[in-house]
Amino acid sequence: MTSRWVVLKFGGTSVASARNWGRIAARVTELHAEGKRVWIVASALSQVSNRLEQAVEEALGNREPASLGWIQGRHIELAGEIGLSVTAYEPVKELLEELGQLLEGVRLTREASPRLHARIMSFGELASTQLGIAALGHHGLHGQRVDARDLLISTEVDGQQPADRFVQAQVDPVRNVLAAEAASDACSLVLTQGFIARTPRGETCLLGRGGSDTSAALFAHLIGAESLEIWTDVHGMFSTDPRQLPTARLIRQISYREAQELAAMGAKVLHPRCLGPAAEGGIPIEIRNTMDPEARGTRIGPSLSDDAAVMAVVMREGVTLLNISTLRMWGTPGFLAKVFAPFAELGISVDLVATSQSAVSVTLDGVPGGTGGEPFRRLEERLKLLGEVTTREDTAVVSIVGRRIRTVLHKLGPAFAVFREHEVHLVSESSEDLNVSFVVGQQDARTLVDRLHDQLLPKQGSDELFGPSWELLTSKQRRIETAEAPKPWWHARQAELLDLVSDGQSRYVYDLATVRAQAHGLRQHLTAVGGLYYAMKANWNAEVLRTIAAEGLGIECVSAAEIKLVRELLGDAIPILFTPNFCPLDEYAVAFEHGADVTLDGPHLIDLAPELFRGRELGVRVDPGGGLGHHEKVVTAGAQAKFGHPVADVAEVVRAAAEVGATVTGLHSHVGSGILDPDSWGRTLQGLLAVRDQLPDLRWIDVGGGLGVVERAGQQALDLAAVNLRLAELAAELGDIELRMEPGRYLVSEGGVLLAPVTQVRRKGEVRFVGLATGMNSLIRPALYGAWHGIHNLSRLDADPDGYWHVVGPICETGDVLGRDRLLPSTEAGDVLLIENAGAYGRVMASRYNLREPAAEVVLTV
Ligand code: LLP
Repeated sequence: MTSRWVVLKFGGTSVASARNWGRIAARVTELHAEGKRVWIVASALSQVSNRLEQAVEEALGNREPASLGWIQGRHIELAGEIGLSVTAYEPVKELLEELGQLLEGVRLTREASPRLHARIMSFGELASTQLGIAALGHHGLHGQRVDARDLLISTEVDGQQPADRFVQAQVDPVRNVLAAEAASDACSLVLTQGFIARTPRGETCLLGRGGSDTSAALFAHLIGAESLEIWTDVHGMFSTDPRQLPTARLIRQISYREAQELAAMGAKVLHPRCLGPAAEGGIPIEIRNTMDPEARGTRIGPSLSDDAAVMAVVMREGVTLLNISTLRMWGTPGFLAKVFAPFAELGISVDLVATSQSAVSVTLDGVPGGTGGEPFRRLEERLKLLGEVTTREDTAVVSIVGRRIRTVLHKLGPAFAVFREHEVHLVSESSEDLNVSFVVGQQDARTLVDRLHDQLLPKQGSDELFGPSWELLTSKQRRIETAEAPKPWWHARQAELLDLVSDGQSRYVYDLATVRAQAHGLRQHLTAVGGLYYAMKANWNAEVLRTIAAEGLGIECVSAAEIKLVRELLGDAIPILFTPNFCPLDEYAVAFEHGADVTLDGPHLIDLAPELFRGRELGVRVDPGGGLGHHEKVVTAGAQAKFGHPVADVAEVVRAAAEVGATVTGLHSHVGSGILDPDSWGRTLQGLLAVRDQLPDLRWIDVGGGLGVVERAGQQALDLAAVNLRLAELAAELGDIELRMEPGRYLVSEGGVLLAPVTQVRRKGEVRFVGLATGMNSLIRPALYGAWHGIHNLSRLDADPDGYWHVVGPICETGDVLGRDRLLPSTEAGDVLLIENAGAYGRVMASRYNLREPAAEVVLTV
């Protein structure tokens, strides 16, 4: 037989369904038709390796062998799905019985040596390939099942831990076509196991997690394959983690070295160790998606071009940063060698390194035993002999990967605005100009990746380097998957909404049922809160106000005009909080007149108008020193913020009040808006309780509003139960004091949408624009805060997206963009776009800029 082999590797999900075995058979048939022989390397069915680990634990603990049962059940289930006969399944059954016996041995002896552990783990792949041979037979393909352990033999590595010989074995790439021919028995289809090999002494060993890719590359090298296809559950390598950033682009072509860099820096599709053998054998690798077999994936081969290019922005979390500083270092030969010696001796591998005249900083990625473990403790001890040692956990490495990376450095500036208030701990550039890495606090890493990716990678166009984005590739599949998920309220009202804007004018539309449901949810969950006040600045539409008042909430106002409107619409009984800032003094008089609880930002107001406040009950707004929010412009605490009095100086307000015979009966703090961290309000309360002893007349404490809503995919909704729990934990300390909150956005954001007719669409170079009848004059949040609002083509809700568009308005400002790079179906003038989450801070912040009237409001009452 002279024709060349093609190696196909299938991962856990790719071998776990009858449908996928059908796809595997189809690919084999295709390759056979081209005259190729096919060598398949398969992983264990998905989840089976985890269950095998658990099975060992169960046996060691003499517990019910639930995992073994699960594994057997899973294989029987798949065999049934494929339609295998009992006879065809028999060899799988026998294998799993043997596995049962080994586990029984572990149970009896309560011992599982690394050697035995490796043997037990190998059953995942042994069983999947046994089942696979039968599955291929079912599709009329006769294959030879080869035991990987007959061909892949590990090498003993100096200094390797004894256990690692079995569970992290290393196999050197060798070419041995004869052995492979003998094993294949002249068959044109071979099926063998990934992940497993044997030691020179004939024992089963494992290549470590993710090792099946490496197995496949080793086999490809061994048999001199023409190419290697890695079939998995994604389309290929992406320009960033697509699950975090859906605009990630598929990388079409990348060199071995770049792919290696990307895999090592955190891209998880491919195991970094598999690239060596493939590169050595000059075998091109192609990553393909088993669920979308027609699509073109990522091709990895020798370098084709030397042109500068950014390929990806990736991150690795859970990194430890170690800094060794000493003044003795300067000019001492051999100092670096002394610093690095203990790392080598203790088996701790160093990732990034930076040195200065007096310090060495390194990052560590995967310290054996963690930073609490013995090797790390000994490392610190040794390093302390050389200088001062500091350690930082919770850091992440963000890397830009590509070629001739130095040439893009000038583009990075704006992305680093995130670091005005945060530190970059270390910057490192790889010696081959393949990456630049930044060590930053873990909490900042995600934002940095998003911004860098946004800035450095093209969104549009498809070329030899980049294919479509992940969201475009998967939009159809996701639509099917989420068909059952609950839809936002406006989905069911498509026709009615389209009708509302048939005159070509834009409209804000509010659904009172949604507003009511949000109010109800707050009342139900926030049981620790005695008084809920709606911050009407978010939306003062009369119907919206009535709906919220009917749910039993009071109103928080920040101007005399707001107070007057409340009294006019909602009567005299509804409780009002007045929490203005730098507000004209006569408005306080209006507030007192209308029976509001009045809050002051500081003692300066009493000094300014002592008579106004004489004998009054007053609230004081304090600044705890720091806040949170969806954007820096909505953080309302901290030294530079114009709100509140420093909490530590609250006594100054008490004193000023006493001078005019007033008492401080309320304590208030609002630290920001659009907060999704459920601990925020508990923290605020704790800070306020710390000064309550200075306020003997306290009647109420208000921990503000700021409750955030989900604006884009991937955000975690605010857990109201958790918010309440944190507050309830402190309830005992409150005694008779009433706890208050004053949410705005949470009540009204989702209940409102902005409907805007499309007036024109156009392309300018690579960029496509959708022009709307209204823009920042109706909704200023994207321009002001870079806020993200979901945008949908309401006229074509069921159409698949065809690519990216910038959604813009008619205002003469570059910032008049409601959404950048939005995935939309093919869109035309006359369509209507719907902008989500427009119920809060939408219409209320609108303007007549350019003398264009903003969208009018329509309220849906039923
Ligand atoms: N209490 C006080 C004292 C406030 O200043 C605010 C909002 C709230 C409560 C209600 O915050 P909420 O629950 O709505 O987050 N225009 C910005 C939001 C500014 C918030 C101003 N103060 C935006 O569109 O995101």
